[in-house]
Amino acid sequence: MEKQLKIIGMSGSLRKGSYNTGALRYVEQAMSKDVVYKTLDISDLPFYNQDFDTSGYPDVALAFKEELRDADAVLLATPEYNYSIPPVLKNALDWASRGDEKPLVGKLAALLSVTIGPLGGARVQYHLRQTLLALDMKVLNRPELFIADAAEKFDEDGNMQDEKTKKYTKRLIDALVEEIKKSK
Ligand SMILES: Cc1cc2nc3c(=O)[nH]c(=O)nc-3n(C[C@H](O)[C@H](O)[C@H](O)COP(=O)(O)O)c2cc1C
Repeated sequence: MEKQLKIIGMSGSLRKGSYNTGALRYVEQAMSKDVVYKTLDISDLPFYNQDFDTSGYPDVALAFKEELRDADAVLLATPEYNYSIPPVLKNALDWASRGDEKPLVGKLAALLSVTIGPLGGARVQYHLRQTLLALDMKVLNRPELFIADAAEKFDEDGNMQDEKTKKYTKRLIDALVEEIKKSK
């Protein structure tokens, strides 16, 4: 039997009512049923420091890498913090990049960003692309998805409400699944 495709989502926000985490809840709901999708909780990863390379990695980091090992792609949903990548997400990517096993090398990544302002995270996405280049990932170029003015498109619990935004989000995940299939 053919192995099911697997996509891992990660949110760059730990906020309870996060719009970005909410976007990933919509992704889970809208994902094609033949794909295994899971949003990973990256909040428990300690801050990476290079001493771990000699002292050994904590179980939580090993479990994180294990989840990434059999994934075909990752989907990153993130706010922009001061024009750049929120530390929680950068930390997770740094963990994934260390050790003998580098579970993201050569894999596909798709990006979306949600902000309350009018730019929708244009700057953070280009910083993320730079980091993902260092991780030797293949980032989907199209479609791009910048979700601006989030308060008008999500409810206060962070659930996506706007139909057009749902349509664009679905378009992004469908393109990612298509690209994974092409790469097989
Ligand atoms: C520390 C910090 C820095 C921020 N910097 C930016 C920024 O550079 N650009 C931007 O568009 N929004 C910025 N924002 C606003 C975020 O877009 C907004 O808080 C967004 O809702 C966060 O996403 P979340 O709902 O997923 O937590 C910043 C927010 C915080 C807390």
